[in-house]
Amino acid sequence: MSPIILILQLILFLLAFPIYVLNFLGIWDSIKKDLFSNLSDFANSSKELNVLEIGCGTGANFKFYPNGSRITCLDVNPNFQSYLSKSQMESDHIKFEGFVVASADNMTTVADASMDVVVCTLLACSLPDTPKMLEEVRRVLKPGGAFYFLEHVASTDDSSFISYLQKILNPTWSLCLDGCNLRKTTWKDLEQAKFSDLKLRHIQAPNVLMPITPHIVGYAIK
Ligand SMILES: C[S@@+](CC[C@H](N)C(=O)[O-])C[C@H]1O[C@@H](n2cnc3c(N)ncnc32)[C@H](O)[C@@H]1O
Repeated sequence: MSPIILILQLILFLLAFPIYVLNFLGIWDSIKKDLFSNLSDFANSSKELNVLEIGCGTGANFKFYPNGSRITCLDVNPNFQSYLSKSQMESDHIKFEGFVVASADNMTTVADASMDVVVCTLLACSLPDTPKMLEEVRRVLKPGGAFYFLEHVASTDDSSFISYLQKILNPTWSLCLDGCNLRKTTWKDLEQAKFSDLKLRHIQAPNVLMPITPHIVGYAIK
C-alpha cells in the first residue's frame, strides 16, 4: 500500500480516536453482554454456531461469543488484521474461520445462507447504504438465523436538546469521524428489511458522549 494511503488512514484513526478510547474502556460492554446472552439459541442442528461479524474492528466482541463459536470477521479496513490477530490469540474459547476485507454492503465472498448469526455493532453510523447492508445480511443468514445489532442513532425526540446538538454537530462530526452520522434512523431501515421478527429497543447508553447517547439494540430473525 502506498505511504500516502497509510498516512491518511493514520490521520483518520487519530480523528476517530475518542471512539476507539471509549470502546477500549469497555463503555458498551454491559449492553453487549446483555445483548449477546442468548446467542447460543441460534446454534444449528449440529450444535455449531457460525457467526459473521461485520465491521469487526479490533475484535472487541470476541469475549461475548459462546465457547466453540466459529467466527468469520469482516472489515473494510485491512489494517485491523494485526489487532485482530492479537484478539484472536487472547480468545481461545472460539474458532476463527477467516478475515474478509470487504464492505458490509457488498460482501459477495460470503456465501448465501451460510451463517447462523450476523453481528453488527457500531457500524451502521458510517455506512452510506444501510438497506443494502441489511439485504446482504439477509442473504448470508440461514433461514431462522439472527442479526444482532447495537447502534447509536438519531434522537427520536426532535424537540430534545440531544436532537438539537446532533443537528448542529453532525456535518463536522461526520467529516472528522470517518463519515460517522449522528442522525441515522437505522431502526426504520430494520423495520423495512423484511425480517420475520424484530426485537428492537431504544435505549439511552450510559457514560458515552452526549451526542451518541440514543442507541438501538436487539436482534432480527430471518
Ligand atoms: C466504531 S468501529 C466498531 C468496531 C466493533 N464492531 C465494536 O463494536 O467495537 C467501526 C468498524 O466498522 C468498520 N467499517 C466502517 N465502514 C465499513 C464498511 N462499509 N464495511 C465494513 N466495515 C466497515 C471500521 O473499519 C471499524 O472497524
